[in-house]
Amino acid sequence: MSSHGAPIPMTAHKSGPLRGVAEVPGDKSISHRSLILGALCVGETKVSGLLEGQDVLDTGRAMQAFGADVVNHGGGSWSVHGVGVGGFGEPGQVIDCGNSGTGVRLIMGAMATCPITATFTGDVSLNGRPMGRVTDPLALFGTQSHGRSGGRLPMTIIGAADPVPVRYTVPMPSAQVKSAVLLAGLNAPGETVVIEKEATRDHTERMLTGFGATLRTEESAEGRVITLTGQPELQPQQIVVPRDPSSAAFPVCAALIVEGSDVLVPTIGLNPTRAGLFTTLREMGADLTYENMREEGGEPVADLRARFSPEMKGVEVPPERAASMIDEYPILSVVASFAQGRTYMAGVKELRVKESDRIDAMAVGLRANGVDVDETEDSWTVHGRGADGVPGGATCATHLDHRIAMSFLCLGMAAQKPVSIDDGGAIATSFPIFEALMGGLGAQLTRDTQ
Ligand code: S3P
Repeated sequence: MSSHGAPIPMTAHKSGPLRGVAEVPGDKSISHRSLILGALCVGETKVSGLLEGQDVLDTGRAMQAFGADVVNHGGGSWSVHGVGVGGFGEPGQVIDCGNSGTGVRLIMGAMATCPITATFTGDVSLNGRPMGRVTDPLALFGTQSHGRSGGRLPMTIIGAADPVPVRYTVPMPSAQVKSAVLLAGLNAPGETVVIEKEATRDHTERMLTGFGATLRTEESAEGRVITLTGQPELQPQQIVVPRDPSSAAFPVCAALIVEGSDVLVPTIGLNPTRAGLFTTLREMGADLTYENMREEGGEPVADLRARFSPEMKGVEVPPERAASMIDEYPILSVVASFAQGRTYMAGVKELRVKESDRIDAMAVGLRANGVDVDETEDSWTVHGRGADGVPGGATCATHLDHRIAMSFLCLGMAAQKPVSIDDGGAIATSFPIFEALMGGLGAQLTRDTQ
């Protein structure tokens, strides 16, 4: 089933070469945060380059339900008239976050220290995901939550009327949990401290500082210690959302495995908390270069150039790199299928609680297409078959997971026989122009009648 309608079965046929410029959409993480932080200022925040994927649109609708005014000016240009820290009003309806774990967890944090009650739901995928990882730390502020068994949505959150500041060590590497606690800390008096043992994406910290909050990050024996001073007056901003490295991963990886390809993916952020995939691909021997390296909006940025790389070798991806490429393991497993030798990916049990169990979803689909995969609870190994060595020919279940859908379509572009997916509907959550963009480069994608 698609997240917002009938299933869209699709097939990718052997393609190539892929050539041209791939202008991928805005960063999903930064887009969510732009709308939420915009809603927490008094005045008008202007956002350009917003990702207009379903996940972000659902967050925009949620911000309106809490009282902000979110306006679409067309062409990726949006504005948010916010209500200020602590200014959220009680929504008159259930908040539907669709497919988005980032959306629901960050919004729960943002409303958790306001004296209001809100009920959250999502699609079948989101309603199966664990929310206790967020509601446990929110309870320390004085917030109550009532959900289904296993801490799952639908769930009602009763915001703390008299929040207290919190000191919390995040038990798993999760930027969503870190961010939920920081956003809740905004409306608590005093200093809220979040400690993470492993660095995860730091967009919330960077953006809170940009919006005028007082926040400091220190490295210590415990890990990264982030201290936020509560109850700031956030100042409206003009935000230019950079392009999403997690979306860039698809045209980059497809170019590496499709014979004769040469693709330029401009203006991709290389923030070290996000760029682990590109490091790994270069270690595998991919012909992936960074051109025109520069700084934009305080972030390192480059144009990525990816060319067909028939000599790639399997590698061991170290566990400490996992957080910086957590969304990219599905597409890495596709590249690994076309490399020589084994690729071992360790320390990745978080993949089991994403939009789907991503280790299982990829292992089942890769095996059906003739690639051997071993898995443990927190690691997996792909046994590469070399360039042109993947048989293909199977249909893969995507479990309402956009990255699983796009990964198997990329597999089909280079496999010997076509690869089908049961439903491409979820692709619209993060990369609504995927089909048109990949088709423009030369990918042979078809929508199948059911
Ligand atoms: C995100 C954090 C990651 C990532 C997700 C986006 C964010 O999730 O998988 O796509 O924007 O904070 P976790 O925090 O659960 O690792």
